[in-house]
Amino acid sequence: MIKGVKGAPDILPEDSGKWRDLEAVARDVLGRYGYAEIRTPVFERTELFIRGIGEGTDIVEKEMYTFEDRGGESLTLRPEATASLIRAYVEHNLAAKSSLVKLYLIGPMFRHERPQSGRFRQFHQIDAEAVGSPGPSVDAEVVALLHHLLEAWGLQTISLHLNTIGDPVCRPAYREAFVAFARAHSADLCLDCHVRLEKNPLRILDCKVPACQQVAAAAPTISAYLCAPCREHFATVRSLLDRLKIEHTVNERLVRGLDYYTRTTFEFLNPALGSQNAVAGGGRYDGLVEEIGGPPTPAIGFAIGEERILASLAMQSSVPEGAHYTGVYVATAGAEVFPTAFELAQTFRKRGLRTAVDMEARSLKAQLRQANKDRYRYSVILGTDELARGEATLKDMVSGEQLGVPLGEVVDRLTRLPIREYA
Ligand code: HAM
Repeated sequence: MIKGVKGAPDILPEDSGKWRDLEAVARDVLGRYGYAEIRTPVFERTELFIRGIGEGTDIVEKEMYTFEDRGGESLTLRPEATASLIRAYVEHNLAAKSSLVKLYLIGPMFRHERPQSGRFRQFHQIDAEAVGSPGPSVDAEVVALLHHLLEAWGLQTISLHLNTIGDPVCRPAYREAFVAFARAHSADLCLDCHVRLEKNPLRILDCKVPACQQVAAAAPTISAYLCAPCREHFATVRSLLDRLKIEHTVNERLVRGLDYYTRTTFEFLNPALGSQNAVAGGGRYDGLVEEIGGPPTPAIGFAIGEERILASLAMQSSVPEGAHYTGVYVATAGAEVFPTAFELAQTFRKRGLRTAVDMEARSLKAQLRQANKDRYRYSVILGTDELARGEATLKDMVSGEQLGVPLGEVVDRLTRLPIREYA
């Protein structure tokens, strides 16, 4: 047997409905905030991610699925959506349409990480980006949108961590102070952080190794280095969130793993998920559009990990999976009645009902067992004698009640039921 690739799980039929529901809610809420869907290819030129995400990041250094195509070009399966989306924004001059362009993208992303609970090599993101405005009200609206989405899905126990990492004016001085401190304590740092110290020192701040966390806790903090405009920007974002009663914790160690961020960064965490507890993350990236070849354009966005949202919902759910019964199962007793059953099933489907009909000439008992297993709300049973009398039996699969009905009335009776009983 050829098995699927490690870390790239299948989404089976019993689960796909949850994905559809999750995405339907997302599309509805994103639409209310004026976001339009964009779909970009799952692969791009490798250079886009190297330039966009940054050479010293874990994603670019260790996690990309990069390959040479038959034409000798280096391509990479997208590890995230922001760089692709901004590439499309620049390439198609979407700036001409509006001074603030709001886009979202839903789809699979690929990172060669070590698979573990909540961490996959193919995973799915709902990504939203607001491109064109430097104003702090956009930051607050983006965070509020993400908060709204989590609320609409019914997520509980989620906390919001917020930070600012300054901008090219004030971050260099902070970085310098941080590096000096980290060098002085390098004996306490893990091996990975030694490399980070050279390549991407601020990532030491969110290393999970306890000794590194101790160093990080004692290190200089960004707030002492922020320039006045960055400080003001952050204060406005926070006060607008307060106005919407969106609780948040300032976490000065939230630097995030991609190089493009400036000023506001944020993550929504679900502690119940264990080590991979970030259900969504994002931030402002005022330099990326220019980095990718567009005009200087400020932007901000986020991405939600769909697997982690579904895992969070599954943990808090008390309703048994797929508990509701819908639709009609047309059961037959005797091969002669099959053509009538076949036709009846087609009529039900055209009238909007989920319908199944047995095609394997199984025993009536086996058919009703199947109807129950597949959670059909009603069965219509057709037997040779009944059919000769122009009758069928209607069985309520939840209560078990049975009733003889003239064949000509079956469709009308079932399609007149309240919609939730059969849809
Ligand atoms: P990120 O923090 O790398 O940000 O990913 C966002 C979310 O995707 C994470 O919070 C997590 O829920 C999910 N995720 C990431 N990697 C995995 C994985 N291996 N398995 C399962 N879920 C995963 C970004 O990707 C940025 N592009 C977000 C952004 C948009 N910033 C600005 N705009």
